[in-house]
Amino acid sequence: MSDDSIRDALKMMPYGFYAFTTKNGVDVNAMVVNWVSQMSYAPRLIAVGIQKSCYSRGVVEAGRVFGLNLFLQADSDAIMPVTSGRAKKPEKMDDAEYSPAPETGVPVLAGAAAVIECRVTQIVDVGGDHDIVVGEAVSAEIMKEGAPPDVLSLTELGWSYAG
Ligand SMILES: Cc1cc2nc3c(=O)[nH]c(=O)nc-3n(C[C@H](O)[C@H](O)[C@H](O)COP(=O)(O)O)c2cc1C
Repeated sequence: MSDDSIRDALKMMPYGFYAFTTKNGVDVNAMVVNWVSQMSYAPRLIAVGIQKSCYSRGVVEAGRVFGLNLFLQADSDAIMPVTSGRAKKPEKMDDAEYSPAPETGVPVLAGAAAVIECRVTQIVDVGGDHDIVVGEAVSAEIMKEGAPPDVLSLTELGWSYAG
């Protein structure tokens, strides 16, 4: 416990963990995210909180597509090449292994268990340091089947992005 109970409580929220991949022409990128949730059944909308200042924010606005890559816990090493930002590691996509997703062409990272491909419907400025990128799921591919307990989340990684 710290003297900031809001921060402490926000850090108690359980989260999934994903690689958010984007494409605008030949420019592709991947970043790790956990501020993700399905927001509607019909249509199937997914919202992702994306930092205004990160490289992916510009790519997704221009390219209007993104992919959410999910991993099994056993494959946590697969996300390591894309954990840094492009500003710090400009060559990160050269070091990453990936293939184009069939519907949108966004990167599917090697080792991913599934990818959900989305077309952007809205990018909402909520008045904070992150925007909400909303996408409609238009396709999905499952490469390795797994139940939610088998899927990599922030809990297994022991990392935190909240507070
Ligand atoms: C565990 C973890 C979770 C993260 N979750 C998010 C997130 O939900 N949204 C976000 O904008 N950044 C998140 N980040 C930070 C981005 O991954 C980071 O800013 C990244 O460097 C941006 O990459 P880019 O500049 O290449 O787009 C997270 C980082 C970590 C380590």
